[in-house]
Amino acid sequence: MSTHSPTQTPNRLVIRQPDDWHVHVRDGEMLNEVVNFTARQFARAIIMPNLANPVTTAEAAENYRTRILGALDTHMDTHLEFTPLMTCYLTDTIDPKEIEGGFTRGIFTACKLYPANATTNSSHGVTDIQNIYSVLETMQRIRMPLLVHGEVTDKHIDIFDREAVFIDRILSKIVADFPGLKIVFEHITTKDAVDFVQAGNAQIAATITPHHLVYNRSAIFEGGIRPHLYCLPIAKREVHRLALRAAATSGSPKFFLGTDSAPHTVENKQSGCGCAGVFNAPFAIESYAKTFEEEDALDKLEGFASEYGPQFYGLPLNPRKIILKRTEVEVPKTLKIMDTQIIPFHAEETLPWRFAGFED
Ligand code: DOR
Ligand code: ZN
Repeated sequence: MSTHSPTQTPNRLVIRQPDDWHVHVRDGEMLNEVVNFTARQFARAIIMPNLANPVTTAEAAENYRTRILGALDTHMDTHLEFTPLMTCYLTDTIDPKEIEGGFTRGIFTACKLYPANATTNSSHGVTDIQNIYSVLETMQRIRMPLLVHGEVTDKHIDIFDREAVFIDRILSKIVADFPGLKIVFEHITTKDAVDFVQAGNAQIAATITPHHLVYNRSAIFEGGIRPHLYCLPIAKREVHRLALRAAATSGSPKFFLGTDSAPHTVENKQSGCGCAGVFNAPFAIESYAKTFEEEDALDKLEGFASEYGPQFYGLPLNPRKIILKRTEVEVPKTLKIMDTQIIPFHAEETLPWRFAGFED
């Protein structure tokens, strides 16, 4: 529940600084360019471990964290404040001791379950949930959250059904077998997922992306194929989008912010076999603010963006406040990144709220 009321006038909204509970900041040259879009708005971020070489050890996570901190722009006033929260990529053979050690030393915040081959860089993921049962037992005991990419990978299951089938076949079983395990059902895209999380106990919550709140599956094909709207899990029918909007703006602490910002170069998106991912970090909080306003729920934005996530993870709320101003902001058509471009979410659109820095 909200611990205080956000200050709101028709033209200005001040909320506690938000966190991003799911983001891909990549590595190498790409990391240097993209992480600052996240650090500009968010105090903390759960960093996805699906690098080309997945992050499967505490040492790899520490090194990756060092690279992330090294990539922060020292000209930005946020660079000293941003905290990357590291995750461990689960494999069939991962050692529970590595996970427990990394968690108790404060290196890992959570573990990420990618079913093998579900998405980008997930080929080392888990092939059968039974293979990680001893890991899940350890995580339940130490109260370490499990972050779930909830899609089955069976090619015989229609891509639009993969989340619902995952709930039936796998997630229900994990929840039944590990009732004390903290689970974040990530980037949910269906009414089935909303209903499942709502009906569950306090150990299960979900993140919702900006883009799944904005468009449905028809939009991916509106007037032609739109590769920049392609992500996984793929957007579903309108009934599902409406259920996500209702959940995000409901004020329930089970639903909180996770952008799933996932940058790919324009060449890798606009290709015969384009990559999955929406790069929404540049205007993330602006996108959520627009959705919440459309739902007449701006008073619920702070809980969703800045309170329910830390409460679920058992972390303190951020002390700083950010300002959102009702000033139109034009989202650029492209962003120059490395020697190429990335197309941001909402490219060439005008958004009604602008992130305007911090309150003193
Ligand atoms: O669209 C997606 N992109 N979904 C994922 O699960 C992974 C992500 C990426 O890493 O590109
Ligand atoms: Zn993701």
